[in-house]
Amino acid sequence: MPLELVQGDIAAQTTCAVVTAANKELMGGGGVDGVIHRAAGPELLRAIRPLGGTPTGTAVITPAFGLAAQGVQYVIHAVGPIWRGGQAGEAELLAGAHRHSLRLALENGCGSVAFPSISTGVYGYPVEKAAPIALAAIAEVLAARPDLTVRVVLYDVGNLHVFQRAWARIEGRQV
Ligand code: APR
Repeated sequence: MPLELVQGDIAAQTTCAVVTAANKELMGGGGVDGVIHRAAGPELLRAIRPLGGTPTGTAVITPAFGLAAQGVQYVIHAVGPIWRGGQAGEAELLAGAHRHSLRLALENGCGSVAFPSISTGVYGYPVEKAAPIALAAIAEVLAARPDLTVRVVLYDVGNLHVFQRAWARIEGRQV
């Protein structure tokens, strides 16, 4: 299945679409969103502000502006849930943010998408819980669209290992 798990910087990717971990007000932020906005330039914020926001568990798509220099055509602004202990629908919202992002990428003709580990920074979602949900949502789409390549970019090696173990479990491998 065309899934790649890599350690790296989301803003250095050359995929058709790059996903950022946004907030529902679409106001720009720190973490991944700060890195993406810095790389794309101020036009990115000007493009999303008029949209007025998007609900948690959904995503919006814009041009990639400055990131186009490295071949990225679109930025997908995905809003993951804030972790509230696990009983507030977080898993479904996290899966929804991934599904919606992939739908937008496909609708815009993209063959490759790079994701960060949504919600596992400022939003506090434990990565051990987030990884299997994110990967199951991605796997569901890849099963129907094997022509798509999805790369999950983990900033640190610890998170990379968590995602690798979760992916092995989805594939039915022993780890
Ligand atoms: N490349 C890839 N991953 C990164 C990078 C990077 N350059 N920098 C940080 N990360 C990782 C973090 O280690 C974390 O695991 O991305 C994950 C997501 O972290 P956040 O960016 O904090 O995203 P999230 O938890 O979804 O919080 C979203 O933060 O910046 C605000 O506006 C944003 O309010 C929103 C909230």
